Amino acid sequence: MNTENNCIVIFGASGDLTFRKLIPALYNLFKIDRLGDDFSVLGVARTEMDDEAFRAKMREALVKYEKASGDVLDKFCDHLYYQAVNTSDALDYGKLVPRLDELHNKYHTGGNTLYYLSTPPSLYPVIPECLAAHGLNTEEFGWKRIIVEKPFGYDMKTAKELDTQIHRFFDEHQIYRIDHYLGKETVQNLLVLRFSNGLFEPLWNRNFIDYIEITGAESIGVEERGGYYDGSGAMRDMFQNHLLQVLAMVAMEPPAIINADSMRDEVAKVLYCLHPLSSEDVKNNLVLGQYSRGTVDGEEVKGYLEEKGVPSESNTETFMALRCEIDNWRWAGVPFYVRTGKRLPTRVTEVVIHFKTTPHPVFSQNAPDNKLIIRIQPDEGISMRFGLKKPGAGFESKEVSMDFRYADLASPSLLTAYERLLLDAMKGDATLFARTDAVHACWKFVQPILDYKNANGRIYEYESGTWGPAEADKLIAKSGKVWRKPS
Ligand code: BG6
Repeated sequence: MNTENNCIVIFGASGDLTFRKLIPALYNLFKIDRLGDDFSVLGVARTEMDDEAFRAKMREALVKYEKASGDVLDKFCDHLYYQAVNTSDALDYGKLVPRLDELHNKYHTGGNTLYYLSTPPSLYPVIPECLAAHGLNTEEFGWKRIIVEKPFGYDMKTAKELDTQIHRFFDEHQIYRIDHYLGKETVQNLLVLRFSNGLFEPLWNRNFIDYIEITGAESIGVEERGGYYDGSGAMRDMFQNHLLQVLAMVAMEPPAIINADSMRDEVAKVLYCLHPLSSEDVKNNLVLGQYSRGTVDGEEVKGYLEEKGVPSESNTETFMALRCEIDNWRWAGVPFYVRTGKRLPTRVTEVVIHFKTTPHPVFSQNAPDNKLIIRIQPDEGISMRFGLKKPGAGFESKEVSMDFRYADLASPSLLTAYERLLLDAMKGDATLFARTDAVHACWKFVQPILDYKNANGRIYEYESGTWGPAEADKLIAKSGKVWRKPS
């Protein structure tokens, strides 16, 4: 039997993530024959619904988001099932036992079960315990794995409590903490760029790198998620997880081999080396912002305080910029400027490596900086910028670029982040999932920033469609730099 044959149980099956991401990802894997025929998906939520109603709802999602139709869609939908469960009542989980038996028998899945927690975080500690009450966590017949969506805790304390609670019923090897940024092709490409080329490694350190920018910009606002977002803010929503994971990929040491343990050892190590910030450091190195009305992509948009689900007095940040450093031999003294925000002029995630200038200027004109721009999304690619002589008299230099566009490599069957990560979890490959020590390292670094913010954090207003508050420019200007403003 193929180890991927399994029943995928999605808790939170009537939610947005299931509709928009999970079912489309599974459908695409099915379409390109990565799931075979021996799998089933069991949606679980409180809402009473039968299999047919669930299939109709998921079909709607697939037509809408994937333009699905025809035979493949029909066949895929035949694999979908639904079970209503009162997810806070341990007894009610008993309904899953006969349902799972039936599906494992029908699809010859040998008891292999992948639980996906796509629920409000308040249920993360509850579901494992309720599954265990019915023996649904034991690996006696087939493997049992559990995927947990972010947020992994709300702060250091709750992250640890959550881990303790899940570990009571599932071993670490069964837990897959999903951070969809790690599933992005171009985030993984960072590793290949760094570790399969002799060209960059000798330069990838404090001797040659001046500073590094990491930007996660979005032009959208909080959309329908105001209620969730207001309790989270940019720091918990993007920085503590996605951007710190990207930073780890940029800064980690090469693992001796690529497997889940050695990769994740290096990720955790570098995150633990983030220079701890005192409240004075936070004061000098952090800028928080909140969007007001403005124009984005030619459209007038509301301010954050006018968004649905957001209290009119809210002090939640929709933008943050932070200067941080890594205390190790490779990076000592190199500033990492990280920023993220909603309602910025465009959607772009990129890393810019700024190299030091030549030790002595030979030509009278200022030579352009050398930089490597790693564009994670959209228009994925890598661009190397350097100076060359302007044709004609004299030695004036101008910036030129050598560009690689990822689209030139990509095959049409390139997997999206959720497709890749779901497939990895089914194969038992945890390399691209966050390990508990890395999550704790992120919280350890972020906790003093949250504490400072809660005690005295000032939130600057910025107009939607701009690159955040002017204070963010002042932050980087302290060391004579400017943020790149990607288009
Ligand atoms: C999610 C955040 O984890 O990532 C969202 O909750 C954010 O607020 C999203 O918009 C960004 O993901 P991507 O893949 O569009 O960059």
